[in-house]
Amino acid sequence: CTFLTEKDRKDICDILCNGLQRLEYRGYDSAGIGIDGDSDKEIILFKQVGKVAALRQLIAEAAIDTQKSFLNQCSIAHTRWATHGPPSPVNCHPVRSNPANEFTVVHNGIVTNNTELRLVLQKKGYKFESETDTEAVAVLLKYVWDSQPQQRIDFTNLVKTVLKELEGSFAFVFKSIHFPNEVVTARRGSPLLIGVKTEKKLKVDFVDVEIGGPEAEKGNVLLGPGGPGPVTSNLLVPPTVGMTRSQSRAFMSDEGIPQPIEFFIASDASAVIEHTKRVLYLEDDDIAHIADGELHIHRLRRGEGKSSVRAIETLELELAEIMKGKFDHFMQKEIYEQPDSVVNTMRGRVNFDIHKITLGGLKAYLPIIRRGRRIVFAACGTSYHSCLATRAIFEELTEIPVSVELASDFLDRKTPIFRDDVCVFVSQSGETADTILSMRYCLDRGALCVGVVNTVGSTLSRDSHCGIHINAGPEIGVASTKAYTSQYIALIMMAIQLSEDRISLTERRNQIIDGLHELPAQIRQVLHNDKSYQQLARTVLADSRSLLIMGRGFQHATCLEAALKIKEISYTHSEGILAGELKHGPLALVDENFPVIIIMTQDSLYPKVQSALAQVTARKGQPIIICNDDDDSIPKEYRTIRVPRTVDCLQGILNIIPLQLLSYHLAIMNGFDVDFPRNLAKSVTTE
Ligand code: G6P
Repeated sequence: CTFLTEKDRKDICDILCNGLQRLEYRGYDSAGIGIDGDSDKEIILFKQVGKVAALRQLIAEAAIDTQKSFLNQCSIAHTRWATHGPPSPVNCHPVRSNPANEFTVVHNGIVTNNTELRLVLQKKGYKFESETDTEAVAVLLKYVWDSQPQQRIDFTNLVKTVLKELEGSFAFVFKSIHFPNEVVTARRGSPLLIGVKTEKKLKVDFVDVEIGGPEAEKGNVLLGPGGPGPVTSNLLVPPTVGMTRSQSRAFMSDEGIPQPIEFFIASDASAVIEHTKRVLYLEDDDIAHIADGELHIHRLRRGEGKSSVRAIETLELELAEIMKGKFDHFMQKEIYEQPDSVVNTMRGRVNFDIHKITLGGLKAYLPIIRRGRRIVFAACGTSYHSCLATRAIFEELTEIPVSVELASDFLDRKTPIFRDDVCVFVSQSGETADTILSMRYCLDRGALCVGVVNTVGSTLSRDSHCGIHINAGPEIGVASTKAYTSQYIALIMMAIQLSEDRISLTERRNQIIDGLHELPAQIRQVLHNDKSYQQLARTVLADSRSLLIMGRGFQHATCLEAALKIKEISYTHSEGILAGELKHGPLALVDENFPVIIIMTQDSLYPKVQSALAQVTARKGQPIIICNDDDDSIPKEYRTIRVPRTVDCLQGILNIIPLQLLSYHLAIMNGFDVDFPRNLAKSVTTE
């Protein structure tokens, strides 16, 4: 963050820690901040292992009060998900170039050539103190600085020189004692946005640039000409005639009253929303320089990049959406939001009266998709499961072959992709590195790329050709819940719309649309029985060290997703399998003590799942059965979770909810932090 307004140091630390707390779901093994000291030549670092609360405590104990109020202040902060080097104060960001904190940097992503850089710099006599890849960047800044005759390079060009040496992915914010009151920020592959807070509409100098972007504030941030040398013609807030340079730190309103301007740089909007809704998303290889109330955007290489326009957009996010409200945890809140989040996914898109679905973001591309020779889904984690859950209905309705790929494996295999392929990338965050890299791979091969994304403004939603926003609302809990059910519905809606020219399938489509209409009320019914799931978790599963979840057909994805939920937050090994595979191995695990969950809601495969149940009970297994509430054929002695009946292809939405709640209760019973499971992060922006 950088602030160009009068604040004392305590305020600044509070703002930084609040911002970090909003971002904590993205990584939370250690946190740190870098703020200005009392002189221009001083940067104070605070770093702490653990969550942001621990950092706050450290700062509170450090008695940082000062008489000084800062008119112009730049500070940086970071919460980490460790990749290189375990969580420790020295590995935590901001990372510095040397003990004098000459160059400090916070970084998301991985610099893949850090080992080579480190070796070269060590040979030149530079010392390293951490195990992070980021330190190679901080030390490289120092090296380039030291190598400049009389150090006459400006901050932007210094950073530019360093970035040209880096491989991998990054979002950086740099701060240096050599450039007090300035920050430089840059991205390639990792998300980065700049929130702008000012009470006045920004004035813009449109010299030499293309104008574009959303209506309200078209083109009000401009690209510099790129290349070396200072940029002078692209002021975001041009000094008013007659103002001195120091006055230009404050934004001048039309009446000449000074207005403060604050910039907030962050990896996602949740960190800035309480300060401003006006944000500018940086693109890959953008370098933004902020100083004296002015923002300049440069390109790493002149002339490269798809657009020379950056626009300030207005976020639709509300602060309440990223607060827990009356719930104990974000995950619990998000599970309980599902009756509403599924409605939001369908809102304005489904006409239940005439059985019609219209997805505006896909409309223009429907003919191309229908002509495609196959559809390839690529995603990770829970998003991958939503693709698996809907593959069968996609194939049934579109009659186009569908393959479902784990994004990392898709890339590892260098899967053949052609111009007539349609590739669908599903991601809650829209920032998962493996999924984004898969999309870039397909874009390079000329395939149509469709994004199915929750986060508006994310890399995936901006860089795909077309797509669907699932509109589930912000998801903060690391274990994905409401995004899963909304992705599921979004994909089904896509399949229905694609098939609308097939008369023979009208009845099937109408049946599914009627099913969608009933869903919110049915989800409420499932949530209503939460106490009984809690009871089951306590009495049957609390002490389990391992768990098997099985089902067939549409429910295979439910099994995988339920097993993932249990692993993620209750740290209990769990495995989801196709019930047909039981006899080929997993049956060996089953005895009277081994916990098994069988999903046997009624669809065409019901008789086959009944045989799996028989195989389990013949080995004295004591399964928990998920079945429809009107199913009389389940013997009374079995433990059951009963859910309302819906159309076969939608049943997975109702079936996953008790399992989300089971995993939640298991984690709580074991005293685990459900919103921040160990070793995980919500948005994994590294490969
Ligand atoms: C991480 C999260 C998972 C999520 C996966 C894919 O591993 O912990 O909950 O399913 O990333 O994330 P995406 O944002 O692409 O859906």
